[in-house]
Amino acid sequence: MKKVTNFVSPDAKLGRNVRIWHFAYVGSGTVIGDNVKIGSLAHVDYDVKVGSGTMIEGSVYIPPMSRIGKNVFLGPAAVLTNDPYPPSKKMIGVTIEDGAVIGARAVIKAGVRVGKRAVVAMGAVVTKDVPAGKVVMGVPARVAYTRKEFDAKMKEWENARS
Ligand SMILES: CC(C)(COP(=O)(O)OP(=O)(O)OC[C@H]1O[C@@H](n2cnc3c(N)ncnc32)[C@H](O)[C@@H]1OP(=O)(O)O)[C@@H](O)C(=O)NCCC(=O)NCCS
Repeated sequence: MKKVTNFVSPDAKLGRNVRIWHFAYVGSGTVIGDNVKIGSLAHVDYDVKVGSGTMIEGSVYIPPMSRIGKNVFLGPAAVLTNDPYPPSKKMIGVTIEDGAVIGARAVIKAGVRVGKRAVVAMGAVVTKDVPAGKVVMGVPARVAYTRKEFDAKMKEWENARS
């Protein structure tokens, strides 16, 4: 008997070199670009688009109508939503633009757009659009500093002697 370790809908379209870890789900009609990684227990529902090079960490939840760009990082257990007043009959997806970083356990409100190379801190609750190139933190999420500063912090962190 074949061991089933994840479920990918037969009409989902997977690009080249897509890696899907254990117990992940990919729904009907969803399109996944090249070199995408989908971590274990991630739920990528139907009618979702994910651009190439994006990393979806374990336990991420991505509902129908979500649009995710290229080279996005979705941290562990991040939750995108699509229904502001559940269970309503009207859904609206979240859009995450290229190069954005979504921290662990962040939650994004239905219909919100996270701009190019924006960063959402771990645990943030994002209720409004996030401008491109900005870092937002907190509940509700507010702009804290810029992506340029974030990149400088990353470099400093990587270069610091431990
Ligand atoms: C957004 C982030 C980069 C900020 O880190 P930082 O710039 O080093 O921030 P600092 O730790 O210097 O903290 C600065 C201030 O912001 C607060 N802060 C830091 N992270 C916060 C967060 N996620 N939510 C709310 N406040 C936060 C700190 O308490 C501090 O407040 P204070 O000035 O009142 O003391 C970091 O918190 C984050 O979320 N990183 C992503 C981690 C992640 O999800 N990784 C996934 C892979 S495992």
